Amino acid sequence: MEYHIRQYGLQQGALEIQYIEEFFGEFPRRKTSSEVVARLGDRDHQIVMAEAALPDDPGTVVPVAFKVSHELRRRETDARLADLVARLADCVRFDGRKVLYSWIGGTRRDWRGRGFFRALTEQQESWALDNGFDEVVVKTKNRFYAMRSTLDHLEFDVIKLETRPGDPGASKVYLSKRLGREVVDRHRSTRAVVNVG
Ligand SMILES: CC(C)(COP(=O)(O)OP(=O)(O)OC[C@H]1O[C@@H](n2cnc3c(N)ncnc32)[C@H](O)[C@@H]1OP(=O)(O)O)[C@@H](O)C(=O)NCCC(=O)NCCS
Repeated sequence: MEYHIRQYGLQQGALEIQYIEEFFGEFPRRKTSSEVVARLGDRDHQIVMAEAALPDDPGTVVPVAFKVSHELRRRETDARLADLVARLADCVRFDGRKVLYSWIGGTRRDWRGRGFFRALTEQQESWALDNGFDEVVVKTKNRFYAMRSTLDHLEFDVIKLETRPGDPGASKVYLSKRLGREVVDRHRSTRAVVNVG
C-alpha cells in the first residue's frame, strides 16, 4: 500500500489540524489553529497528514491521521515549553544538538491499525534527518496504552517516567529516538508526499 501524505505550510496546516482534531472526541483539550500557529510560528516545524478514500465513497478522500512536531530549544520563553525542557534536562542533551518534539498526533478511529501512523512517523523522521535534527522526543501518559504500544513498535526508547502516586495511569512517560541514516534505512512504508501551502 502506498500512503498519501500532505506536508503543510503553517497557516493552512493549522486549520487542517483544528479540523481533524474534531474527530478525536476522546481527548477533551483539542488544539485550535491559533494555538498551533502560536506554538510553531518561530521555529522549525512539520505538519503532516495522511489521507484515504472513504470506504463507501471511494471518490472522496479525507484526512485520517496527523502528526505535528517542532523544534525544542535549550532556552524556551513559553512557560509550558520551558517546563518541558527542564523536565528533559537530565535525559536529553540540547547543547549543540537539534531536538524535535513530537507534539500532537493520532489516527481517526476507523482507520487505526492500518499503518497510517507508522507512515507519518517515517515521514517525520526522514524530514527531521534532512533538516539536521539529532533526536525526536515525545511525551505520553501511562494510560494511553495504544500510543505506548505504537511508540514501542516504532522503536522509541523510554527515557523518563514521572510517577503520579495514587494515579499510575496519569504518570508521564517520556520517550526518544536518536536519528541517523540507519533509522531511515529501516523504514517500511511507501509514501507519496505532496507539499501544500
Ligand atoms: C496510537 C495511534 C496513533 C496509532 O495509530 P495507527 O494508525 O493505528 O498506528 P499504525 O497502524 O501505524 O501502527 C503502528 C504500529 O503500532 C502498532 N500498534 C498500533 N496500535 C496498537 C495498539 N492499540 N496495540 C498494540 N500495537 C499497536 C501496530 O501494530 C504497528 O506496528 P507494526 O508497524 O510494527 O506492525 C492511534 O491508535 C490513536 O490515534 N490513538 C489515540 C491517540 C492517543 O492515544 N493519544 C494519546 C496522547 S499522547
